[in-house]
Amino acid sequence: MNDDSRIYVAGHRGLVGSAIVRELRRLGYQNLVVRSSAELDLRRQDAVDAFFDQERPEYVFLAAAKVGGINANDTYPADFLRDNLLIQTNVIDAAWRAGVEKLCFLGSSCIYPKLAPQPMREDALLTGPLEPTNEWYAIAKIAGIKMCQAYRRQFGFNAISLMPTNLYGPGDNFDLQNSHVLPALIRRFHEAKLRGDSQVVIWGTGTPRREFLHCDDLAGAVVHLMKTYESDELVNIGCGSDVTIRELAELVAGIVGFTGRLSFDTSKPDGTPRKLLDVGRLSALGWKPRITLEEGVRGTYDWFIAHQAEIRA
Ligand SMILES: NC(=O)c1ccc[n+]([C@@H]2O[C@H](COP(=O)([O-])OP(=O)(O)OC[C@H]3O[C@@H](n4cnc5c(N)ncnc54)[C@H](OP(=O)(O)O)[C@@H]3O)[C@@H](O)[C@H]2O)c1
Repeated sequence: MNDDSRIYVAGHRGLVGSAIVRELRRLGYQNLVVRSSAELDLRRQDAVDAFFDQERPEYVFLAAAKVGGINANDTYPADFLRDNLLIQTNVIDAAWRAGVEKLCFLGSSCIYPKLAPQPMREDALLTGPLEPTNEWYAIAKIAGIKMCQAYRRQFGFNAISLMPTNLYGPGDNFDLQNSHVLPALIRRFHEAKLRGDSQVVIWGTGTPRREFLHCDDLAGAVVHLMKTYESDELVNIGCGSDVTIRELAELVAGIVGFTGRLSFDTSKPDGTPRKLLDVGRLSALGWKPRITLEEGVRGTYDWFIAHQAEIRA
């Protein structure tokens, strides 16, 4: 990628896409092409084809997707399967036909089997049953990986697939109906503090272990690999360490300043018992994260406070 390469970031208003745009600008890439979903609905093949014909991007970061937590995945399985299949199929195919130099597809750690050996290596893909609550989303993402591999094999299309762990940071979705655990905890502790509640109830047992990576670290890794990595092998992107949901909740409560009690609703599903990515391949490719979980949560809470009018809630 040169400084003046024409780069399309799909999903630039989202957590990941906005971080990729910030990272590209920080590195001096100025020729960025972006469209909101209102301007270009990536589920519409005719609109996507017309966009690629007209804009002719040279590089594509595919960070547009229908994304959500356990609750949203479980409630809207058809939306998660259909929208993600449509978005990625339209974009990958149009990019190849328009002669795009290279495309980066973003999957997710939920593509790995529910009981994959931990930490999860890239070769755990398709070795066992998925976590049922988000299998719709995971199946779509697996199809995206396979599409990148198939287009590379059949057409020589330079598409890479990267699998981020759980992400968080400025611009996250704080909507309690469909957000991920970390932004949901920030919002719930903040509102409980304002109301003076004596306790906050958290879904599940608090024992599942999860890994969290700041979106700015993710963006650093994604741009690094877009510049240096060419293979059909997927690459995990994580920080290499995990915490229990209870530990996370205690960290967030401390940063937000909620002093009440945490209680756990064990009638609600826990999801996968542990999700930690093996980051050996990523480390060997010369990248490691910079932002600690505590620094990252602190910064995200500061952002949440400063952007009350524009948060997705
Ligand atoms: N967040 C995480 O923890 C996480 C973890 C692993 C992987 N990922 C992956 O990272 C990617 C981005 O996730 P995110 O967290 O940034 O999600 P997000 O904050 O919800 O952003 C998703 C973006 O996709 C766009 N989009 C959705 N439907 C669209 C459509 N029909 N047409 C055009 N654009 C559409 C939205 O555009 P508008 O804003 O314009 O509507 C939005 O900007 C996804 O592939 C996801 O699987 C995320």
